[in-house]
Amino acid sequence: MHKNINIGIIGLGQIGSRLYEEILSKKKDIGIKTGVNVNILAISAKNINKKRNFKFSKKIFYKNPIYIAKDPRIDIVFELIGYSDGLSKKVVELALKNKKHVITANKALIAKNGDYLSSLAEKNKVNLEFEASVGGGIPILRTIKEGLATNKINKVVGILNGTCNYILSKMESSKDSFANVLRKAQILGYAEPRDPRFDLNGYDTLAKVRILSALVFNNKISKNNCLMNGIENIELEDIKMADKLNFRIKLLGITEIINNQLFERVHPCLIKKDTYIANVNGVMNAVILEGKPVGQSLLQGEGAGPGPTSSALMSDLLSILRGNIKYPFGLPFKKRKKINTYDKNQYLNSFYLRFDVKDKPGVLSSITKVFTKNKISIKNLIQKPDKKNKTASIVILTHEAREKNFNSLIFNLNNNKSVKKKSTFIRIEKV
Ligand SMILES: NC(=O)c1ccc[n+]([C@@H]2O[C@H](COP(=O)([O-])OP(=O)(O)OC[C@H]3O[C@@H](n4cnc5c(N)ncnc54)[C@H](OP(=O)(O)O)[C@@H]3O)[C@@H](O)[C@H]2O)c1
Repeated sequence: MHKNINIGIIGLGQIGSRLYEEILSKKKDIGIKTGVNVNILAISAKNINKKRNFKFSKKIFYKNPIYIAKDPRIDIVFELIGYSDGLSKKVVELALKNKKHVITANKALIAKNGDYLSSLAEKNKVNLEFEASVGGGIPILRTIKEGLATNKINKVVGILNGTCNYILSKMESSKDSFANVLRKAQILGYAEPRDPRFDLNGYDTLAKVRILSALVFNNKISKNNCLMNGIENIELEDIKMADKLNFRIKLLGITEIINNQLFERVHPCLIKKDTYIANVNGVMNAVILEGKPVGQSLLQGEGAGPGPTSSALMSDLLSILRGNIKYPFGLPFKKRKKINTYDKNQYLNSFYLRFDVKDKPGVLSSITKVFTKNKISIKNLIQKPDKKNKTASIVILTHEAREKNFNSLIFNLNNNKSVKKKSTFIRIEKV
């Protein structure tokens, strides 16, 4: 005789609607694997009259999702609305306080409120699961919490945003501009149609990096002012130049411990073409973990979309149904520490820069003086004159320099009268 467990799904958009169908179609399989009979007893979305691609009884539709979070009949609540605060935070908070397990795909919510919500889950002895918030279908969080539970991990590097990876890969393969490829990504549903800003500017990746850091380093979720640059300023010219120099451009999220301090960053990187991560293309995500004693582990898979995301949500559901009641971040809230932040100004790195200058005598020497003034030495300089416009495009690869010197260099270059267009810069990363 199977035990009955009742589910409420809040949010029936791309993810919620796919999950609804997934649970119904796998009901029998779930019963066999867990001994539990699951029932979807409540659903909620903003608009009850919206045309949806699945049939449901209006009797189970709650106009106000707060009542799902409070309903004593519900055992597990899925929060699939989105946003870091507001209604999504409210329903998760209420559900946990009412001793319901919560499963969410909402990285913004977890990156901002994960500490508070996880302590609430622990207090009420229920689960807060968020596998779908990082890496889509890649079971990265469960791998860290369970498969690699006793490893000491010192660095995680990832391609964590499928939209950005698609855009950068497609610009290279189609030799098309950033704007055109972004438009294509929006048509294909890979980028938000209205406002793709949070994907492109690195914010989405940073939220995932913060969640990963908390898991691998057992720290409270950091609120630091991290090093974050997006891909909005990458032009086809940079993609072509990277190709010529045997590099590929990727937006990476990186978290590591340097001198016992936490360094989290998100920025476009020039990576040697023959490396593993440089060959993760399209909407794929990938994560590289370095741990002891395991060594290096690589995980790759589709990073977003209803299929991979619902796969992760279902794994959270089955984990709960199997009675795996555990700490949301792998250890008790009180044991999680606050790790001091690494001073990003001290970070040592090499850079690629591209900028246009007036093509006239003396300009190049004035530019190289700016580098000397900022104690940055040039490794490679490529000059491409544009006779028609009397300008020249300059590409420079530097030797390693401190972030603070580099920032001052960029400031000086952008204020130099001979520089016609603000410089594009990309960090060169050894992965
Ligand atoms: N899409 C992906 O590939 C992906 C991947 C990983 C994680 N996620 C995360 O999954 C979550 C859901 O994403 P999504 O793409 O499914 O978003 P979506 O398509 O925009 O769906 C959002 C849902 O929330 C509902 N909603 C909005 N306001 C509401 C309110 N006041 N009361 C009740 N329901 C309300 C909407 O109702 P209506 O349907 O009536 O408008 C809609 O059903 C987000 O946290 C997102 O970050 C998404």
